[in-house]
Amino acid sequence: MKFNNVAFNKPFISGKELYYIADSVMKEQISGNGYYTKLCESRLAKITHANKILMTNSCTSALEMSCLLLDLKPGDEVILPSFTFVSTANAVVLRGATPVFCDIRGDTLNLDEEKLQELISNKTKAIIPVHYAGQSCEMHSIIELAKRYGLSVIEDAAQSVGAYHHGQHAGTLGDLGCFSFHETKNIMCGEGGALAINNPDLIERAEIIREKGTNREAFFRQETNRYTWVDIGSSYLPSELQMAFLFAQLENLDQITAKRKAAVEYYYIHLRPLVEKKLITIPKTLEHNDVNYHLFAIICRNKDERDSLLSYLRNRAITSVFHYIPLHSSPAGERYGDTKGNKLSVTEHVSDCILRIPVYFDISTEEQSYIVHSIYEFFQR
Ligand SMILES: Cc1ncc(COP(=O)(O)O)c(C=O)c1O
Repeated sequence: MKFNNVAFNKPFISGKELYYIADSVMKEQISGNGYYTKLCESRLAKITHANKILMTNSCTSALEMSCLLLDLKPGDEVILPSFTFVSTANAVVLRGATPVFCDIRGDTLNLDEEKLQELISNKTKAIIPVHYAGQSCEMHSIIELAKRYGLSVIEDAAQSVGAYHHGQHAGTLGDLGCFSFHETKNIMCGEGGALAINNPDLIERAEIIREKGTNREAFFRQETNRYTWVDIGSSYLPSELQMAFLFAQLENLDQITAKRKAAVEYYYIHLRPLVEKKLITIPKTLEHNDVNYHLFAIICRNKDERDSLLSYLRNRAITSVFHYIPLHSSPAGERYGDTKGNKLSVTEHVSDCILRIPVYFDISTEEQSYIVHSIYEFFQR
């Protein structure tokens, strides 16, 4: 079967999304911190067992709130992978601090925990492990190292709702965890996010920072008789319309994860012969990680082959994409970041050779079969 267009990603409705949006309007509050925001917070706390969840308007906002909460300032350093989305580094740079870029592991594409220690200096304040593709970084050794040097840990769990590490939900192991509900994520509401606050000392101030630096949240709990400006902060609340949509998806998380699992396993099974012939590799899942099937990536043998495969698929109306341009070699990364003189060779190789193929909630077996056949055709030319 041939297709005119196989999208890379598609937003979807899993159940009561539109009904809950209508209900939020009927409840006469569509600004932030209302009925559906609270429902999402308690549901996500139940799923993750996080100490406290605050919904935000993006994961970018949750990362920025985390850097505000840690009081990062000029001169401070924060270690994070170069192979990540720009928001991980921007949050640090917005506080005037310096992102120090660490290389990744070739098997999982996650921060290489073995290369962390050599990057720690007396200026280091925090580590931001990024759980790539819903697979957690080696959090036990990262947290042990952070404790030894008195550092905070912010987990970038943007891609990790529904993913577990040694049985614990991603984003709940460090001091703070940041989730994304952007349209490209497993469960989504267009733009959205959440901050998991695992260190109880940070909860009160996080509420203030999210509410533009005011104690409005305490006022609504009737803990104060007026609300006023008490600290720095910004507008990090999502609207009730977004939270109404998201709540329906949170209700259906298991069903959504199961559908993605079937799609990802289809690729594993059908592309395995290409792995055996050493034409491609596929990142490995470590046995103590339960992943959420966020994405499916293949690593080609070199950049030319990856670029040719991408165009080959494009000519067959299949959208495949690659990411990330290594942050350390980007214009802003060179200006604001530091590699401490290291060459991040795994990051550069993966960035050159990776290709992500379509995975979304209602991708059909026919579409997946067409993608797999097209990949085989490419390697048989
Ligand atoms: C690793 C990572 N961090 C942060 C973000 C930012 O998420 P958001 O779009 O919700 O701000 C993303 C989004 O793709 C991401 O993949």
